[in-house]
Amino acid sequence: MQKLIWPAVLLAGLLVSACGGGSDDPAPAGSPPPPVLTPPTPTPIVPEQATMSELGRELFFDTNLSSPAGQACATCHDPAAGFADPDSDMPTSEGVMAGRFGGRNTPTAAYASLSPVFEFTNDPAVDPAVFFYVGGQFLDGRAADLVEQAKGPFLNPIEMANPDKAAVVNKVRNSAYAGKFVYVFGADAFADSEVAYDNIATAIAEFEKSPELNPFSSKFDFFQKGMVTLNAQETLGLDVFQKKGKCATCHLLPETLPAPMDPPASFTDFRYFNLGVPKNPNNPFYTQDMAFNPDGASFIDNGLGAEVQVATKNGKFKTSTLRNIELTAPYMHNGVFATLEEVVDFYNTDDPPAPEVDNDITADVGFLDLTPDEEAALVAFLKTLTDGYVVP
Ligand code: HEC
Ligand code: HEC
Repeated sequence: MQKLIWPAVLLAGLLVSACGGGSDDPAPAGSPPPPVLTPPTPTPIVPEQATMSELGRELFFDTNLSSPAGQACATCHDPAAGFADPDSDMPTSEGVMAGRFGGRNTPTAAYASLSPVFEFTNDPAVDPAVFFYVGGQFLDGRAADLVEQAKGPFLNPIEMANPDKAAVVNKVRNSAYAGKFVYVFGADAFADSEVAYDNIATAIAEFEKSPELNPFSSKFDFFQKGMVTLNAQETLGLDVFQKKGKCATCHLLPETLPAPMDPPASFTDFRYFNLGVPKNPNNPFYTQDMAFNPDGASFIDNGLGAEVQVATKNGKFKTSTLRNIELTAPYMHNGVFATLEEVVDFYNTDDPPAPEVDNDITADVGFLDLTPDEEAALVAFLKTLTDGYVVP
């Protein structure tokens, strides 16, 4: 059953009629009984056939689900920008409230479904004694999976800024696709805001697993299946990626390619590292209100370490997928690098900049000794990871 919402006027009327008569003014005997007020019957929602993923798509693109209206998940995760923020001029994204910026660069939501559930585990085949964090959503893994992740942005004051779950659920109930919600989750779908809110997240997660966000349609994918060849520069780039550049150590790729891969490459090990990325002085988060950033310009993003409350993990962030990386500038958790050339220069440098967090910086970064041609080839290879390639 739908929860009945009694209009304020009606409630006020009820209160008045309950005490308005007053005990010193008894109703004369034989007068008609007070009128019985019936609450308005809400218009029933007609179910409309849809899959859970189709419903999730409606939710993902609905710009009405912020407060005030105007921002959807897709505003920051735009398909035209590789499901990341189309505004590549700002290192981080602006919420629905003008001037409110988060501290982190928006990553792609595409292929996020490939990340396993967040856990602290070991790999017995490699070394049973070594435990590490792997998987999860967000750059610090603070959401275990996509469903948990999708519950965050609606209520985040620096993102979609809704006051509470019920506000979001009410917007969905009043949307043009409410019938799809009822079709997927049943006639009582809106009865309980807590349950309905969780179901909103479940549907979004289902959409995020769909081929629309996981098309595997890049030149690399067709190359790996043996359907196209890479040009000379891209071939050199792949070689540098696998060997001299050490990129494949974390952005996983097999040594021998082309060879059909099942599952296809995610270009990440979903593990956490401190690359020694420098602070980004242009991060708009530094000048946010005290309520959101009490540390001002001295704010340090400790990433995984802050999340799991283990200082030795400070400065570690989840290895990013590199799929559609051409479309998702700027780069790194704080958006410090504007171009892929800058990223590759950073990995190749013999003179690393001061790191944002000086803790357990990985030895696989820096001093790669790549020539300018090899750097350019690496960038050319990264551009073969853009979806929507048309096989000639
Ligand atoms: C204002 C911009 C903004 C909006 C709106 C937004 N996001 Fe994000 N999204 C981000 C940022 C920034 C991060 C990274 C935050 C972090 O790591 O702390 C992120 C992270 C994610 C991730 C994790 C990706 C990964 O690799 O870990 C997913 C999935 C995602 N968002 C989906 C969504 C969904 C679903 C919605 C709508 C309910 C949404 N986002 C709304 C900015 C946004
Ligand atoms: C030790 C593991 C490791 C190695 C080796 C490595 N990366 Fe990364 N890469 C990461 C991590 C972790 C991040 C996210 C860091 C952050 O946000 O601060 C990242 C981020 C990136 C990004 C930015 C992603 C984004 O969406 O902002 C690019 C591009 C990239 N790496 C390319 C490369 C290339 C090219 C190489 C080889 C020259 C390489 N990486 C080597 C772990 C690694």
